[in-house]
Amino acid sequence: MKKVYLTHPLPSASTAALAAECELLCGEAGAPLADAQALSECVGLVCLLNDRIDRALLQSLPQLEFVSSISVGVDHVDVAALTERGIALGHTPGVLVDATADTAFALLLAAARRVAEGDRFIRAGSWRPDQPWSPDFFLGKDVSGATLGIIGFGAIGQAVARRAMGFGMRVIAWNRSPRVASAVEIVALEELLQRSDFASVHVALTPDTRNLLDAEKLALLKPGAVLINTARGGIVDERAVAAALDSGALFAAGFDVFEREPLPADSALLRHPKVVLAPHIGSATAQTRAAMVRRALDNALAAVRGRPMPHCVNPEVYG
Ligand code: DGY
Repeated sequence: MKKVYLTHPLPSASTAALAAECELLCGEAGAPLADAQALSECVGLVCLLNDRIDRALLQSLPQLEFVSSISVGVDHVDVAALTERGIALGHTPGVLVDATADTAFALLLAAARRVAEGDRFIRAGSWRPDQPWSPDFFLGKDVSGATLGIIGFGAIGQAVARRAMGFGMRVIAWNRSPRVASAVEIVALEELLQRSDFASVHVALTPDTRNLLDAEKLALLKPGAVLINTARGGIVDERAVAAALDSGALFAAGFDVFEREPLPADSALLRHPKVVLAPHIGSATAQTRAAMVRRALDNALAAVRGRPMPHCVNPEVYG
């Protein structure tokens, strides 16, 4: 029987169909893949977005025929190295669009209206009679009537645009490849940054988008803008964001993803009260995560059966 390795335990009800057609081996959550002896005997690998799959690891996996990641993003995988070996890579597009758009909008509202800062203020016992309600107490930024710039107008960017329109925002967008959108003005990235009161990042992390928002680009943002990132760390220069917050060039930021995860204790972002932080929970609803697992296991099952994966990143391997 073919062997397939799961890097993280999954509910047995979800793996039943796959377990009927192959032997499933399970690693310990968070254990380094390089130490997983059993993996070298496997034809398939079902992994998470924090399992790094690079050329060095692939060299130790001569039998590997497919990888199925329980994520839509595949920046943790060396796709070119897989494709060279004819190894199919599956991912989970489509099912996490609304959950991620909700998270982006939650961060946008929380950053604009200082919700997390207010929560900390009360818990710290700072809301005292000498700090009562007053006309200039805890002022935030208006969302309604403001311009939102969406950086990356794919499915998640479009879902964020729909939410923003419901909140009375004007929406402009930039996309790497041409896009036609009726209700949204598509503009160049530089123009988007110059016109946006809020900017939200929704591009995949690739060699082209790494450091897309560097210090130079961030300096183009409107003074007092708010920056949201629910896409991937590495797209935005976090130090430059911290510096822009220090200087007041940025009003606030909301980040769900970081260059290094878990976020290191010395991250410059941690010292800013106006940064709202979330621990990469964009897709973290029970329904969405279950749908992601289903999609990843459907990909794996197709591969075990010798068929093309329904959601394959590198379909050219079937050529
Ligand atoms: C993904 O699937 O790439 C997301 O980042 C998970 O939230």
